[in-house]
Amino acid sequence: MPAAIAHDPATRTWLLTTRRTGYALRIDERGVPRHLHWGGPLTLAQAVSLPLAGTKWRSSFEGLAAAEEELTVDGGNRYGPPALRVRFADGTRALTWQADGHEQPDPATLLLHFTDPHYPLRTTLGYRVHPDTDVIERWTALTHTGKADDILVLRADSATLSLPPRDHYRLSHAVGLWAAETQLKREPLPFGETVLTSRTGTTSHQAQPWAILDAGDANEGWADETQGQVWSAALAWSGSWQLTLHRTPDNRLSLSAGAGHDAVTVALRPGETHTTPPVLALYTPAGGFGGLSRAWHAHLRAKVLPHADETRPVLYNSWEATGFSVTLENQSRLAAHAAALGVELFVMDDGWFGARRDDHAGLGDWAPYPGAFPAGLRPLADEVHRLGMAFGLWVEPEMVNPDSDLYRARPDWVLHFPHRARTELRNQLVLNFARPDVAEWAHSRLTRLVAENDVDYLKWDMNRPFSEAGWPDEPSGRGDRLWFDYVRNYHSVLDRLRADHPRLRIEACSGGGGRVDPAVLARTDQVWVSDNTDAADRLVIQQGYTQVYPVRTMAAWVTDVPNQQTGRSIPLRFRFHSAMSGVLGVGGDLTRWQPAELKEAEQLIAEYKAVRHVVQHGDLFRLRPPGDLQSVSAVQYVTPEAAETVAFGWLPQPRFGLRPAPLRLAGLDRDARYRDTRTGELHYGAALAERGLDLQLPSEDWASTMVHLIRT
Ligand code: GLA
Repeated sequence: MPAAIAHDPATRTWLLTTRRTGYALRIDERGVPRHLHWGGPLTLAQAVSLPLAGTKWRSSFEGLAAAEEELTVDGGNRYGPPALRVRFADGTRALTWQADGHEQPDPATLLLHFTDPHYPLRTTLGYRVHPDTDVIERWTALTHTGKADDILVLRADSATLSLPPRDHYRLSHAVGLWAAETQLKREPLPFGETVLTSRTGTTSHQAQPWAILDAGDANEGWADETQGQVWSAALAWSGSWQLTLHRTPDNRLSLSAGAGHDAVTVALRPGETHTTPPVLALYTPAGGFGGLSRAWHAHLRAKVLPHADETRPVLYNSWEATGFSVTLENQSRLAAHAAALGVELFVMDDGWFGARRDDHAGLGDWAPYPGAFPAGLRPLADEVHRLGMAFGLWVEPEMVNPDSDLYRARPDWVLHFPHRARTELRNQLVLNFARPDVAEWAHSRLTRLVAENDVDYLKWDMNRPFSEAGWPDEPSGRGDRLWFDYVRNYHSVLDRLRADHPRLRIEACSGGGGRVDPAVLARTDQVWVSDNTDAADRLVIQQGYTQVYPVRTMAAWVTDVPNQQTGRSIPLRFRFHSAMSGVLGVGGDLTRWQPAELKEAEQLIAEYKAVRHVVQHGDLFRLRPPGDLQSVSAVQYVTPEAAETVAFGWLPQPRFGLRPAPLRLAGLDRDARYRDTRTGELHYGAALAERGLDLQLPSEDWASTMVHLIRT
């Protein structure tokens, strides 16, 4: 395999190479880093031969296209959306590139340095190549090299990425709401600027910090789930963000992504460096959206998740069963039932601390509520451990109820502006995690809580977005930095907790899936994907979630019916099969389940344990998307070398007499024979791929099945 990074000094051309990708850029005669290529692999000679786009004559009315530069700056004849925009002390805004050498701290990392010819600003474009997973990481660092006057950074994206010219483009992205996260949308990309963004202080329920692009027309080789070229980018940042797509009439498309939303600025002090989070770029030459997802999952598992090889345990969570009314007695009862079913991790959710009897009080006071836990949490932790399960606890460290001892003592600790009301959402305010003292307080509370109570697992929640995001007494008077420092401190408290307690595992949650991104995945073990536990809605949410994020992180619970959110009553088996296609958990009130239900649940949990290594660590194939309730939806997982496969099929409303077609399986060894672990039947891989597997779904509402095949 060629070097990850190759350089032609004569033309100042750089070529980055991964297993299936080539990425080329050139520093032009004026010192501007220009984009050349992002697609299939090239040789260095081929990269050198590529002409720079847009060097031909252009009218006085056309600026440089965004798609021509590695980071589109504000300045000169550029009229597209700037990825880097600064204002110097004298009011000058235009930024001028001047190449100032490069470094390769290791064979897979490239730093291109630029200085401004007049002003004290050094800009570094960072590239990290992952040859084995095809991901190219990019970021930008800005250093104030002067001695006086702040430089105001009005926008600093991590990178601009450019796609090859196409007549049409299509955008796939995920939108959502609370309890309806990651709804996949696939639509023609309009001309002009399309902005995906979050202004909530988190990655948000409403949009996901990633975008997937393919050609927008069948004649240009657009992609589908199984074939076609796809380009994508995901931002590793857990706060507000902005991803701007710019499509011009001359068939160019650029994508710039970075932390912070519009109007969030950074005042750069002399000597300071502002480093953006990385944006991860991934191109897959074939295999369509399914292939792209598998490539993302492979990268995140290999390079990002902290314990990717670990198999996640079956969890029980108390939230839908006991709400805020948790007590030692009711949790012990639930724990006993859970253990009998084969649950391995028992998590007590909200309600165990302070004066928290409902959502009006107590957040911030992280001591057990004596009325429910007179001897503290230890008796429950011990009981859960005695039952053979790990013990988990819900926390929401970034929040405070005004009715709490913490707020009474520290009203200045919340995000606020001096002459504005403090907007309460769910009766709570946001602690200013950007403050070092707040982050320190949170870390010390949490580390003590974990140590003193033998806590194996924390569910870290965050149940509202920012509002009045001010920090009036910020010592340097640069209040906007809170948007960045908040997220950095959230990350660093997670990092410190993990370092303090190497066995501790953490679930990321923000009212469900309100804060998921590669930086969260780097610090947590699984994600609570949505507060919507309806098994049918969940299939749609999971389809969107798995576009980029791996199944190994996708937690799902089986809860009671009628469902608390949707009111729908779906049979237990379908509910289980839906949750078993991710990281299985149980969240119903087990004290009210009938003996037959408990028995069925126990059996299904045992079945899950027999296949979860395939589900959690295998390659995912989304065979049929969910949607139309009268069609089968199906997913399949395949272990490396196609030794085992698991498929789930769901059919909410069968039509009388119309049997669904057999399900053609993917990723199997055609010449091998596979044994169905339930029926003992043998099938050739080729037959499963060509004719397919008859799922034998019963012709009743909410039909579902799971099939497990092992190569003989
Ligand atoms: C959020 C979480 C739920 C639950 C509640 C508790 O909504 O997503 O799972 O923990 O908070 O208040």
